[in-house]
Amino acid sequence: MDAVVLAAGKGTRMCSELPKVLHEVLGKPALGYVLETLAEAGVKRPRVVIGYQAESVRRFLKNYDTVPVLQRDQKGTGHAVMMARAALAQAQGPVLVWPGDMPLVKLETLKRFFEAHRESRAHASVLSCVQTDPAGYGRIVREDRKFTAIREALDATLEERGIREVNTGIYLFDKKGLFEALEKIGQNNRKGEYYLTDTIEILRRDHYCVEAFPFASAEEGQGINSQKDLSLVTRQINQREIEKHQERGVTFVAPEQTFVGPDVKIGRGTVVYPWCFIESGVTIGPKCQIGPFAKLRKGTILGAENVIGSFVEVNRTQTGKNVFAKHLAYLGDAVIGDGSNIGAGTITANYDGKKKHPTRIGKNAFIGSNTVLVAPVCVPDGVKTGAGSVVTPKTRMKKGDVVVGVPAKPIQKIKRKVS
Ligand code: UD1
Ligand code: MG
Repeated sequence: MDAVVLAAGKGTRMCSELPKVLHEVLGKPALGYVLETLAEAGVKRPRVVIGYQAESVRRFLKNYDTVPVLQRDQKGTGHAVMMARAALAQAQGPVLVWPGDMPLVKLETLKRFFEAHRESRAHASVLSCVQTDPAGYGRIVREDRKFTAIREALDATLEERGIREVNTGIYLFDKKGLFEALEKIGQNNRKGEYYLTDTIEILRRDHYCVEAFPFASAEEGQGINSQKDLSLVTRQINQREIEKHQERGVTFVAPEQTFVGPDVKIGRGTVVYPWCFIESGVTIGPKCQIGPFAKLRKGTILGAENVIGSFVEVNRTQTGKNVFAKHLAYLGDAVIGDGSNIGAGTITANYDGKKKHPTRIGKNAFIGSNTVLVAPVCVPDGVKTGAGSVVTPKTRMKKGDVVVGVPAKPIQKIKRKVS
């Protein structure tokens, strides 16, 4: 199937310079969710209409297999689809249209919609949903139940505004009918734009068959038009991600006070306490305890049975089994071996103002409270650091040593100096 994703708009109501579709939902731009659902649905190389800050959107699209199409001036959703005409020259079957600001529509819903469209033999089908508060969305107008038009909120009569069935902005069109109708739409509306939604009335008038299928849930029908919408969508995605982990045996003490990005892996039996922020792509082993108040950042891989406690930030760090960092620590660009204990207040000083440097801690090390590990640094197996020690790249240590002081030195050497 061929698809057109609309991603050229600025998103004026976001009150932000960033293109709307690049606003992140738990670390991933909204457009990414749409493109991933399309890929799961088997859609190959969707045409993505870009315009506002086209170059930044194009850069993001490099992560996906798409065909970017430029809409130089953003004259409305109908105009945006018109821009994709040449890119659709080879398209055979129905054309799916999807706005880049609707990331919550699920694969199952999409499949059901495809199926209904096929069975109905309609020339154009709209995926709709019923909202308790339909404000802002295009209303699905029906006469004697028969779908006749989509009326934009600003152009709707008072009576039409009362309609709670609304347009998700996702459509399947017969290509020929779509482009014929697009030739006929005007800009005679409150926004002065070419509305894609106007094609419905035109197709009907021209005796094409149009249908609206109310298969999307109210939750899926939530788009991103404002900052408030963005937070509502974020809450939904977060809830979906947490539910996936719950089904696999992960305990969340307070799911609504926990943030889990997409593409996170968590092992069975792990307990996540409230107020944790787990970024996209993080891996956590089985039977760990995380939080409360832990931040696990991109590139972090935790082994089994770790305890990452309160006010601990872990960034691009890999740990073995049974690693404990129970309170107040920053572990960045580190590799930590099995059984090591990281005392409260430990910091990996990984950044020299220009570059990030790695820290290696061996197995069964005991890093005393308030140790600063000035990277690049390598702490061998079994080493103990005294409270408040500053371990630098020059600190010489061997397996099992105890190092103390600023800068840290093995404890035996200090004794020798004294005597
Ligand atoms: C649109 C629909 C509305 C529907 C809603 C659902 C129209 C006229 N209205 O309204 O019926 O209920 O979506 O989400 O279609 N875009 C472009 N180029 C443009 C204008 C917009 O690519 O010139 C893109 C935007 O980036 C966005 C999408 O099209 O991703 C939808 O535009 P938006 O302004 O959000 O339309 P809505 O007001 O939400
Ligand atoms: Mg929108």
